[in-house]
Parts: sequence; C-alpha cells; structure tokens
Amino acid sequence: MSALRVAVVGSGPAGFYAAGALLDSDISVEVDMIERLPTPWGLVRLGVAPDHPKLKSVSRAFERVADKPGFRFLGNVEVGRDLTHDDLLRLYDAVLYAVGAQTDRRLGIPGEDLPGSWSATEFVAWYNGHPEYQHLTFDLDAERVVVIGNGNVALDVARMLALTPEELAPTDATDAAIEAIGASPIREIVIVGRRGPAQASFTTTELKEMGELAGADIAVDPAELVLDPASEAALAGDTNARRNLDVLRAFSERVATGKPKTIRLRFLLSPVEIFGDGRVERIELVRNRLEEDPRGRLVAVATDERETLACELVFRSIGYRGVALADVPFDERHGTISNDRGRVLAADGNEPLRAVYCAGWIKRGPTGIIGTNKKDATETVQLLLEDVRDGRLEPRGTTAEGVDALLDERGIRRVVHTGWLAIDERERAAGEKLGRPRVKLVSWDELLETAETFAAETG
Ligand SMILES: Cc1cc2nc3c(=O)[nH]c(=O)nc-3n(C[C@H](O)[C@H](O)[C@H](O)COP(=O)(O)OP(=O)(O)OC[C@H]3O[C@@H](n4cnc5c(N)ncnc54)[C@H](O)[C@@H]3O)c2cc1C
Ligand SMILES: NC(=O)c1ccc[n+]([C@@H]2O[C@H](COP(=O)([O-])OP(=O)(O)OC[C@H]3O[C@@H](n4cnc5c(N)ncnc54)[C@H](OP(=O)(O)O)[C@@H]3O)[C@@H](O)[C@H]2O)c1
Repeated sequence: MSALRVAVVGSGPAGFYAAGALLDSDISVEVDMIERLPTPWGLVRLGVAPDHPKLKSVSRAFERVADKPGFRFLGNVEVGRDLTHDDLLRLYDAVLYAVGAQTDRRLGIPGEDLPGSWSATEFVAWYNGHPEYQHLTFDLDAERVVVIGNGNVALDVARMLALTPEELAPTDATDAAIEAIGASPIREIVIVGRRGPAQASFTTTELKEMGELAGADIAVDPAELVLDPASEAALAGDTNARRNLDVLRAFSERVATGKPKTIRLRFLLSPVEIFGDGRVERIELVRNRLEEDPRGRLVAVATDERETLACELVFRSIGYRGVALADVPFDERHGTISNDRGRVLAADGNEPLRAVYCAGWIKRGPTGIIGTNKKDATETVQLLLEDVRDGRLEPRGTTAEGVDALLDERGIRRVVHTGWLAIDERERAAGEKLGRPRVKLVSWDELLETAETFAAETG
C-alpha cells in the first residue's frame, strides 16, 4: 500500500510535534510541511525572546524530525495564497493545520491606533527579525512606556526594553533592535494588569527574572498586593499564583538601587483612552475591582476612580488571535479552527470533516508554552491514526510530484529543507564572529536568494 501523504501546514512547535508523531507512527506516512515563511520553527524563531537562547534549543528536536525519511519542508508557500484548502484536499490524503495565532487582540479603546501605540505582536516580530515587520520604525525616544497585559509576553516586551547594550549584544535580536533599544532614554516601564496580582498569568520563573536585570530596578506598590477575600481563597488551589505573590511581595520590599531604568508592576487598572496630539502623550486608566461572574471566574469591573499617566509609548500585550483560513470552518468567538480535540468540524454542525485536522494555537487558542503543543499535537495525530485504522482515511495514491508540478505551474519559489539549512548556516557563521548565536537574515529577498544559491550550487 502507498504511504499516507499528509500536509502539515505551519512549521512551529505544533507542526513539528505533529510531523514527528506521524513519522514515528506504525503506518507508512509522508509529511510535507508547508510554511508561508522561508524559515521554519514559527514562534521559536520569531517569538521567543532573544535573551532566552536556551529556550530556542528545542529547535534541535525539530531538526531531528526534519531529518526523518518521508519529511519535506516547503517554505515560502502560503495556504490561502499559493495553495487553497481544496488544492490540499486534492493533493494530499490528509491536511493538518498548525498555523498558530497570526494576529493580536484589540483593546477597543479610543487612541489605540495613535502613533506610539503598538501591539506586542509587531514589536516582538520586529526585534526577532520577522521579514514582514522590518519596515517598522520603533521610535524609542521615550521617558515612560506603558505595557498593557499581565502575561509572559508583556514581561518579554518590558524586559527587552530594559536590557542594557551589554545584555543585548550577545543575542540574536536584529541589529536595528539592538541599536534602538540600546540608545533609548527610557526611564520607566509600567506593566499594567486589569486584574489583581493573584490573577496575573506570568509564570514565576519569568517574573523572578524581572528582578535580576542589570539595568533596571523593579518596583511594586505593596498597597496593590493586598488581596480581596475571593482572591485570597483562590490562592490555596493555585501554586503559580502563590509563588508569584511571594516574588511580588519580595519585590515590593526592595529599595531602588539607582539603576538607569525602573520596571513598575501595577494591578487592577484598565486603559480607558490613549491621548496625544498626533502621537501618544498619555494614557487614562481606570481602577478595577474584582467580581465573580456567573461561571465563578473573578473578572475586572471598573470603578469611578481614574488616573492619567504621561507616557510616550504604549505596548498592548493582551494576547494573540487566530486568523481564519478560506474554506476552513472557524470559531470566531475563540479565534480557532472549529474542532473536536483536533478533528476539524463541519461549519454546519458537529460532524468531523473527512481528512482535516488541526493542532497548536489554532486548535486551542493562544496559550501554553512550547511543550504544551507536544501533548496537543500528539492528541490530534492519535485521532488521525484512529481514523486510518477505522477506515475513515486511506492513501489515495497522491504523490510529491503532483505537488511540485502544481507549485511549478503557479511559479511558486519554494524553500526546501536544504535551502533552509543554507540560511541557518549563513546566519550562524555571521553570529559566530560576533559571539552571537546567529545574525538573522531579515529581508525576504536575502532569505530566498541564500536558499536558492545553495540549491544552484548543489543542483
Ligand atoms: C512573544 C512570544 C514569546 C514566547 N516565548 C516562549 C518561551 O520563551 N517559552 C515557551 O515555552 N513558549 C513561548 N511562547 C509560546 C510558544 O511560542 C507557543 O506555544 C508556540 O509557538 C505555538 O505553536 P504553534 O505551532 O501553534 O504556532 P506558531 O509557533 O505560531 O507556528 C505557526 C506557523 O504557521 C505558519 N503559518 C501561518 N499561517 C500560514 C499559512 N496560511 N500557510 C503556511 N504557513 C502558515 C507561521 O508562519 C508559523 O511558522 C511564546 C509565545 C509568544 C507569542
Ligand atoms: N517564557 C515563557 O515561557 C513564555 C514567554 C512568552 C509567552 N509564553 C506563553 O505564550 C502564551 C501567550 O502569552 P500572552 O502573554 O500573549 O498571553 P496571556 O498569558 O493570555 O496574557 C494575556 C494578558 O492580557 C490580559 N488582557 C486580555 N484582554 C485584556 C484587555 N482587554 N485589557 C487589559 N488586559 C487584557 C489578560 O488579562 P486577564 O487574565 O484578565 O484576561 C492577560 O493578563 C502564554 O501561555 C505564555 O505563557 C511563554
């Protein structure tokens, strides 16, 4: 029997964990990993903070998957632009979407789009060298910056802004980012959470790190750490929150040591409006109290108390959001592909669609660390394999040549795995001279040319 040919769309953690589980299964499988960028690894390359190089070492596990027989990488191929959902259903026996969450949530307040108000998505993509974000100019000539949100991405954004030139120099952040952040006169970075310290979604290791920066003191007002009875009660069952509180209480006892910058953590405040004449000048915040909603969740409810903070920059870090793909059923409320544990559901009901699956952030929403996607992708692959065993899915004799012929006919320049390895090698070699893990190629043309030069040399 011929191999089951699966298109895995997206090359982030979910895509690689799914491809690995498929190729390690006891049936004969071929995987084409289709990625819109010329480079693989998703947010491991373009999200994880440059000063956390150890976390990026998971990419070694991804490269081991790429080395398995039956795996092909097809970079610079976008589903929705170069190939449609119907093309994939015709060209493959099964399709597994692992496209992540490609945009951000909106605050929905006046002034959100003033120059100087940025989404974390834009800033993160810019400092990490995403080729689609390099045209942005971040004017970091600011005294005070406000970061909205209490998740790990908000901490990444605040920490990156607080790094000293010495801390930035050995990273793989882009040269433009290293220069702009290093030269910035920022004095204060205020991180604003709409709920209390017991509801913050930071993880404790990441929170602790905020108190260990060479160029920034950490400040927390002890009055904002006083818990209401419901938060106090909830702590008993929440180890992360308890540990966070311990760290925050220790931070609140610190005395400023005169470092050039201060990171200030504020709680129970929501932005109401961002003001400025042509660019951000100040932000109005409203004090919240917590109230239990009908599902027993403590939610922020605005009071009458307001305060205004002068600031020149605002970063909105309130979560990512999945984007719908044409002809793939989408759950608008959650920003995910409609699915049951990874089987994609028909738009008009709860029945699974034949041969369509999903994994990662586009399956469950934009939460969870890299490792969370392993369990998630494995669950999806197990259901796919169950469908094979039960006769709902079978090889139909589709071929890799069929895919190549269609891409050639449409004139799609694709980056195959050896092309990516050429990019990787060039970036690492440039980094080695400077004591950096890599110097990323950040323009689309350079990425494609590097990949193609290699193909021409070995072709
Ligand atoms: C800023 C940030 C920092 C993070 N830092 C950490 C960290 O330090 N440690 C940690 O454990 N976790 C971290 N995470 C979480 C972790 O990155 C995610 O859990 C994980 O990347 C989600 O995996 P995914 O494969 O679902 O999505 P992604 O990693 O986003 O991968 C999706 C891939 O699909 C591609 N794609 C999208 N649309 C298409 C299309 N139409 N056609 C083809 N390809 C497409 C994208 O280009 C991308 O490569 C961080 C997240 C963010 C946002
Ligand atoms: N080092 C790491 O391990 C690392 C680094 C980065 C990211 N990650 C992971 O990646 C995932 C995504 O991180 P994230 O920080 O984007 O998401 P997140 O953890 O979901 O945090 C989003 C934050 O935005 C707040 N928020 C949402 N809507 C808001 C609004 N309208 N006004 C004000 N605040 C609002 C949320 O508050 P509420 O709680 O009140 O909704 C929450 O504090 C997380 O699982 C994270 O752990 C991990």
